[in-house]
Amino acid sequence: MRITKITDKIYYIGVNDRRTALFENNWPIPYGVSLNSYLIKDEKNVLIDTVEFGSDNDYLNKIETILDGAPIHYLVVNHMEPDHSGMIKTVLNKYPNLKIIGNEQTFKLLNAYYNVIRENFISVKDGEEISIGATNLKFVYIPWVHWPETMVTYDTNNQVLFSCDAFGGYGSLDGGIFDNDYNFEEMFLPEMRRYYSNIVSKWSNMVVKALGKLADVPIKIIAPSHGVIWKDNPKKVLELYSNWSEFKPENDGVVIVYASMYGNTARLADKIGQKLSCAGIKNIRTYDVSKTHVSYILSDILKYKGFILGTCAYNTFMHPMMEHLCNEIKIMSPKNRVFGIFGTSGWNGAGVKSLLKFAEENKLTPITPIVEAIGDPTDEKIEESANSFVKAFYQELNNIK
Ligand code: FEO
Repeated sequence: MRITKITDKIYYIGVNDRRTALFENNWPIPYGVSLNSYLIKDEKNVLIDTVEFGSDNDYLNKIETILDGAPIHYLVVNHMEPDHSGMIKTVLNKYPNLKIIGNEQTFKLLNAYYNVIRENFISVKDGEEISIGATNLKFVYIPWVHWPETMVTYDTNNQVLFSCDAFGGYGSLDGGIFDNDYNFEEMFLPEMRRYYSNIVSKWSNMVVKALGKLADVPIKIIAPSHGVIWKDNPKKVLELYSNWSEFKPENDGVVIVYASMYGNTARLADKIGQKLSCAGIKNIRTYDVSKTHVSYILSDILKYKGFILGTCAYNTFMHPMMEHLCNEIKIMSPKNRVFGIFGTSGWNGAGVKSLLKFAEENKLTPITPIVEAIGDPTDEKIEESANSFVKAFYQELNNIK
């Protein structure tokens, strides 16, 4: 049973989920994910979010061990998604007199998901504070990071921010629970970037607003509901989120993604990669979209300055696996990227045409000339069109800061 103190009065009572293959039944989590929950023991005992139902048989035992017979007075629901709210009914059954704290949007969802009635609920306004003894809890709305009801809770005395999905990441806590317990860059940064690109990036404009609201708040510890607790260097995660929400590329790298049935589009992808390498690009990652899950591709689109999409024609459209990626890119809405298109076709240019339509609808301007080939192109033909494309692409990479 894992109980770790974060401060004198705040306990970590989270759980690692290494059993689930796909987070939200959509995103691969080969390194698992942690579902963090916290208990504050003060004059009023406060539970901050719960964990997914069925994820931890010991959850109630941990609470009982810490409280030693004392009641829970409040349960703060920062976010209603069931990975954090799933144990609400169980906790309510054990502690029927506790009051749930949330906002009006939270209440609608609480009622819809768990049949919670108004009498069990305290509705707080944006910025409102509640005293729990030695400290106050302040509630700040951060809508759409990641659902409309989402808020964060700030412990004013200990300067701890309970941020739920914000500042979280994939990856179970396989030893310590704090940022400085790990080699963060190696163990958590890639999974955190992937989490941001998969779950949060579509709400980046709301992240910018949320960061603005928190800008003047003195924060010693950030305690999210997924991933490490930021005790040593909370500024680091604020900076990461600031950069990601503004789509600041981490370096001049390029992601090349292709959909190819018989290898011709793959040949174009390889040629473009080779030419970018000759031009001096050091970070080039090429993916076959039919093999690599879009989760990883989105993460690299967030990371690198350029991305290039190529497809064969499929019936009268792009390949369906490329279409799936394009849908995800549309939701992600990347900005400030150098973008390219290539493709092959048999009897018409349906693949490139549909990628051009995707680009236009999503305000992405492809670098020209577009690399396009019919059938099984000769090496000379590929060489010729890839040359001028890569020259223009490389130039634009240098133009964007
Ligand atoms: Fe971790 Fe939006 O739930």
